[in-house]
Amino acid sequence: MPVRSALKLSHLCLLLTLLITIGCGSSEPQDQPEPISGAALWLETCAGCHGPYGEGSDVGPDLRYQVGTLSFDDVVATIVDGSGSMDPVQLSTAEAEAVAHFLLEELL
Ligand code: HEC
Repeated sequence: MPVRSALKLSHLCLLLTLLITIGCGSSEPQDQPEPISGAALWLETCAGCHGPYGEGSDVGPDLRYQVGTLSFDDVVATIVDGSGSMDPVQLSTAEAEAVAHFLLEELL
């Protein structure tokens, strides 16, 4: 008898371990924040004034000619604090950095 119950107990432990592992595994993606897409944010929050390619519009200047003069920190500061006639854009620092990275590394 003691042997059988010990076996059952070990089975129960195994089952519990499996359940916990599966449970943790499936809940993991939900714990991770959505990756921030600089490209999507650019289109959502900046392209309306600066154009989809940074070419500018009636409301915002062409940014393509500023390549090389704009540093990453300048762009983040411009987004967060605004610059001249551009109002600050309501983005978190992480979002502003993602947009700045996209703008400088991929778009312009
Ligand atoms: C409501 C329109 C508008 C939106 C939205 C907007 N901008 Fe601007 N942006 C401007 C205007 C106008 C200027 C020119 C500011 C000035 O020099 O007076 C400007 C200037 C800039 C500059 C140049 C700053 C400098 O010092 O020369 C950068 C870089 C820039 N914007 C990036 C962005 C990014 C990135 C976003 C999105 C997060 C964005 N802008 C959203 C209107 C806008």
